Amino acid sequence: MMATEEQVWGSLDGVLVPGAMRSITKMNLVRGVAVSDHKVKVSLASTALYAGAKDWLKSKVEEVIKGLSGTNQVETEFVEAKPAEVNEIKHVVAVMSGKGGVGKSLVSSLLALSLARQDLDAGILDGDITGPSIPKMFGMTVRPTGSDSGIMPVSTKTGIEMMSINLFLPHEDDAVIWRGPLIGKAITQFWEEVLWGKLDYLIVDLPPGTADAPLTVLQSLPVSGVVIVFSPQELAAMVVRKAVQMCQQMRIPIIGVVENMSYLVLPDSGKRLEIFGKSKGEEMAKAADAPLLGQLPIDPELARLCDDGGLELYNSPLVTDLGRAFVKAASERGRKDPKPLYPGTREK
Ligand SMILES: Nc1ncnc2c1ncn2[C@@H]1O[C@H](COP(=O)(O)OP(=O)(O)OP(=O)(O)O)[C@@H](O)[C@H]1O
Ligand SMILES: [Mg+2]
Repeated sequence: MMATEEQVWGSLDGVLVPGAMRSITKMNLVRGVAVSDHKVKVSLASTALYAGAKDWLKSKVEEVIKGLSGTNQVETEFVEAKPAEVNEIKHVVAVMSGKGGVGKSLVSSLLALSLARQDLDAGILDGDITGPSIPKMFGMTVRPTGSDSGIMPVSTKTGIEMMSINLFLPHEDDAVIWRGPLIGKAITQFWEEVLWGKLDYLIVDLPPGTADAPLTVLQSLPVSGVVIVFSPQELAAMVVRKAVQMCQQMRIPIIGVVENMSYLVLPDSGKRLEIFGKSKGEEMAKAADAPLLGQLPIDPELARLCDDGGLELYNSPLVTDLGRAFVKAASERGRKDPKPLYPGTREK
């Protein structure tokens, strides 16, 4: 008895892409499976695979398929494909703030983490080219691999796919001194030339503010919606309104708002202290006409984990709640078939 196509696909599910923590099927590299009399033919996209990775995959694929009963001949062929032809990303969500330092990168990371904990496939694109901070929070220092046809993202300990300019710098503290057009180019490259594979959500951490850089991202990527982060010390609804206006002009829906550094829990009494002033959660949600997805406290443990690169160890019901609220709002409010506005940007 020959193996069925389904069995072949099933065994390919177990073949991991070298350097990544995900399988060739999750990376969407399997372009075709054909089963005939005695032979199984598998066609793989060679996207972002360096020569050694291709060799390794070929022998691994042949090994697992020969393990199926009745199959002794396996042929693996590689076909060229651009990442944009392979990537299948359901929701691209940008995380934005009116001003810097309110915890945008932290919220982006926690969103990705909450998605991974819900068994969803999540990636983070660090769109902050001059002040990248995402890899540090996850303790990621490995260099991405790749080939002429694309770049492979790195996988975090819990399997979140990540791409950041920081992963390419000789020392992670090196400053990136680039002008606007180059920054825009780096961001579009992270979109077009990275093999993200199949993702439920790609979270894009935008640079602070509502100036050029975040605008480029919102224009060049098919963003299905935006999450706005603020803290209670911000100048009331004004800053958020500016961000809201920008989204409205671009017809990008606001999925929700998140208040960071909302309060501090006193260790002895468990009492909540609103040290940056009264929460603006409801007010901001109203200004954005979007749900309040969560209110995060100032948590010394969170700060420590960010510094130590151990964010994935953060265990708080707040992450679960944030993730649930986010997924619900994203599916209800996100654009279903977004197109980038930027002409010349490859669509997928
Ligand atoms: N709720 C919090 N509790 C404890 N520490 C926090 C909290 N939010 C942020 N921080 C600390 O503040 C630092 C800066 O946060 P983050 O990098 O997320 O801000 P940002 O808005 O992305 O900044 P930028 O505008 O520079 O991109 C974090 O590394 C973390 O140490
Ligand atoms: Mg940031």
